[in-house]
Amino acid sequence: MAINIVLLGPPGAGKGTQAKRLEAAYGMVQLSTGDMLRAAVAAGTPTGLRAKAVMEAGKLVDDEILIAMISERLSQPDASRGAIFDGFPRTVPQAEALDALLAGRGMRLDHVIELKVDDAALVERISGRYSCRKCGAGYHDRFQQPARAGVCDSCGGTDFLRRADDNAETVRKRLSEYYAKTAPILPYYQARGALCGVDGMADMDRVTAALAAILGPRPAGDAR
Ligand code: AP5
Ligand code: MG
Ligand code: ZN
Repeated sequence: MAINIVLLGPPGAGKGTQAKRLEAAYGMVQLSTGDMLRAAVAAGTPTGLRAKAVMEAGKLVDDEILIAMISERLSQPDASRGAIFDGFPRTVPQAEALDALLAGRGMRLDHVIELKVDDAALVERISGRYSCRKCGAGYHDRFQQPARAGVCDSCGGTDFLRRADDNAETVRKRLSEYYAKTAPILPYYQARGALCGVDGMADMDRVTAALAAILGPRPAGDAR
């Protein structure tokens, strides 16, 4: 049975970090709209061209673009394994659209999990973040260093990058967008009893354990 979950939380809360761990442990696919948009920007697609300046300003990209992007992604075969939505939905219209898209595929959201982290910690996490250019593995100057300095644990790559929107000024704008436009979807999910909160201030392994407690054991014999 495919499980579909949403990881909600402000920039730097640990959505991407935990989504990758859950993907490896449970076999659902991580659907990060931020990663999809960054790929579109890098490829210079029409969506990427529209999104670039908006993302660099720390604002939200239009709902229509995001809904079309997720709809298309959910049509790909691997989405039948279930999804970990990372960075989507981010507005009430996106949350409504996601419900309709899943219902149209005979699925629904099993859990909506809010990662709660203080603003000061968010800024520190984001300003120290970088990732492997080759495989995308995430690192942090203080909290998540590779075993060998300058060498990616996952693929051995030695080229790393930092996101264009990961500077203190843009982070503050992303945070205010979160509180203005994304936090209002919390009551949307709370009203139907789908929302639970996890202490995202804990270390990464403890956050993963808390998420696993919500998801329960991976069903035996569940194919990838
Ligand atoms: P997006 O890429 O989704 O960025 P975001 O929401 O701002 O979140 P981040 O990716 O910055 O943080 P994260 O929660 O994934 O944290 P991470 O695990 O990396 O979106 C970027 C932009 O795209 C948006 O601003 C918008 O313009 C656009 N966009 C995307 N989706 C959209 C949508 N649906 N609608 C409209 N526009 C959209 O962790 C951060 C760091 O902290 C890492 O270095 C990590 O190592 C470290 N860390 C993680 N967990 C811990 C821990 N427990 N303790 C210590 N350090 C930790
Ligand atoms: Mg992320
Ligand atoms: Zn790598």
